[in-house]
Amino acid sequence: MITTSDIEACRRTTDAARRAGRTIGFVPTMGGLHAGHASLIERARTDGRFVVVSIFVNPTQFGPGEDLQSYPRTPEADAARAKASGADLLFTPDGDAMYGADAGTRVRPGRLAEALCGPFRPGHFEGVCTVVAKLFHIVRPDAAYFGQKDAQQVVIVRAMVRDLRMPIEIVTCPIVREPDGLAMSTRNAYLSADERRRATALYRALQTGAERIASGERRSGKVISAMRRVLDEASPCRIDYIAIVDPGTLEDRPELGAGPVMLALAVRIGSARLIDNQIVDVP
Ligand code: PAJ
Repeated sequence: MITTSDIEACRRTTDAARRAGRTIGFVPTMGGLHAGHASLIERARTDGRFVVVSIFVNPTQFGPGEDLQSYPRTPEADAARAKASGADLLFTPDGDAMYGADAGTRVRPGRLAEALCGPFRPGHFEGVCTVVAKLFHIVRPDAAYFGQKDAQQVVIVRAMVRDLRMPIEIVTCPIVREPDGLAMSTRNAYLSADERRRATALYRALQTGAERIASGERRSGKVISAMRRVLDEASPCRIDYIAIVDPGTLEDRPELGAGPVMLALAVRIGSARLIDNQIVDVP
């Protein structure tokens, strides 16, 4: 695995791989790598790509008072995990390389960014689109791999690629969970032992919602109430939202007709803000 923090060196390496007949698969991350990130790298590898992994804790996607300063930074462990998972190139730019002092240009997403996490994290998805667009221009991948864990992010990135006519295939990979169901997340490191136990309520709430739908409930309000009860038992936790939405448009689905819907939630436990989701096929 080659490691560089230099934009030109990154371009030279991917250009050489392309000339050698390889297609480029790209996995953008903010580090703190865990088995969820590894699954994206392995998928890109399985697809036969020359695999580029980036690690950059992107300041523009953190709001004031969010965890930019305390975000876990584990460069040595990350390099080891990226290499073991099959990365060919690890790109670790610094803040100056990505933004510089005068970088005021932003990529603003459309209405999709107003759903779900949007109202709770103003500017977040603009920061994500801006950094992902920059990284796409540096790496110029054929395919980029994102986790369903951040369902709204991948829907917004898909829309950006379509709207800006970027010739990049977006591949969505399944959520990797701990044995007790908690979705893996770098932010799980913020949880105390007691909070970690209570955090399993997110997955149990999703399962409860899916069960209600499977047993015939078609009113979203009822499904959401049942999910809320599961989370309330894990109190004290603060629920940002519980929603049932169309997985493509992220619009609320008050009545459930046939087809896929997404159950999504965001919860604060201690200092961690956790999100999770599940797609359910309504018969
Ligand atoms: P980060 O949170 O590091 O996540 C990087 C990628 O890993 C994202 O596509 C995310 O959905 C995926 N991922 C995280 N946890 C996962 C899990 N449990 N199962 C499967 N995939 C998982 O998302 C970001 O970074 C940033 O917003 C970024 C896209 C890098 C832009 O800064």
